Amino acid sequence: MRSVIDILDLSVAEIAELLATANDIIDHHEKYENILRGRKLATLFFEPSTRTRMSFEAAMYELGGNVISLAGGNTSSAAKGESVADTIRVVSNYVDIIAMRHYIEGAALAASESGTVPIINAGDGGHCHPTQTLADLLTIYREKGHFDNLTIGLCGDLKYGRTVHSLINAMSRYANVRFILISPKELRCPAYVLEGKDPTSFIETASLEEAMPELDILYMTRIQKERFDDEEEYLSLKDSYILNNEKLKNAKADLKILHPLPRVNEIAVEVDDDERACYFKQTLYGKYMRMALILKLLKEKDNPKKESLMPADAIISDVKCSNPKCICQSEQELKTRTIIRNGIRRCVYCEHEI
Ligand code: NCD
Repeated sequence: MRSVIDILDLSVAEIAELLATANDIIDHHEKYENILRGRKLATLFFEPSTRTRMSFEAAMYELGGNVISLAGGNTSSAAKGESVADTIRVVSNYVDIIAMRHYIEGAALAASESGTVPIINAGDGGHCHPTQTLADLLTIYREKGHFDNLTIGLCGDLKYGRTVHSLINAMSRYANVRFILISPKELRCPAYVLEGKDPTSFIETASLEEAMPELDILYMTRIQKERFDDEEEYLSLKDSYILNNEKLKNAKADLKILHPLPRVNEIAVEVDDDERACYFKQTLYGKYMRMALILKLLKEKDNPKKESLMPADAIISDVKCSNPKCICQSEQELKTRTIIRNGIRRCVYCEHEI
């Protein structure tokens, strides 16, 4: 059963295929209107969401399918202590495909192990968010026409910002892409995201102003309040970057400004009128990419090939993952599995070092 947990579960060729489908949906919407009649999507959201859940639901309706939704995990049996595995086993009986958001890192991979329908990761804690990346990729593609030779500034909370982690994974597969990682030192991108990638393609800085003139894409992010263990630390970092018209004076004329949204304070409202601002278009593109992804996964489900996303070299470990935010801590039946990447042993679910 094919699930999408990480953006790297999709090859570059498959991303190209999804972009082509999304563009075709935009141009010929009528062709797709009844294509999934009788099929059901469940949206299981254990964390707040506006765009991701609603665009998944709009996507399914626009394909002629139906949706059942669990918008607040605290209204489900999870609040009674039900595991993710059991929840997914049950929901698999009711629908053809599941989009799940969970606050625990690795929850989506764990879900894909117990479900009998495709699972789409709609965000697992501070780890990854592949379908936001699909939205980002369609935005970049439609705005720039290509992925190669771009300098991308990622600014804000690069530590907990799961959309950043997935976007770096996706964009580092294209030729001559440079990343300028702009964050306070406390919120730098985790090592597991950068490992195994060409170190010369990354520059880390704390200064948005210095990076600005070089950028083709500026990807702003919210400081992820809900992921901080220490509220004082959040308060001291929350307004680290505020993009405004003044700061954009040194930017390229064809810069494109993206943001996964919601914005809190990191982009001044005055920037919305700048023609370089793409973040509201990006939310619409997210719906088309989710339509393309649901179509692809259901097509593959109808022509099944058994596939597990568990890496073949993952081994069951006696040492439990120590990341308190990892799914291994809360799922009773889940064994910690580890993989060695670049000489470092990591938990397969959350990628923290063991
Ligand atoms: C993002 C998320 O949930 O990670 N939002 C989204 O899905 N569009 C970004 C965020 O919450 O800051």
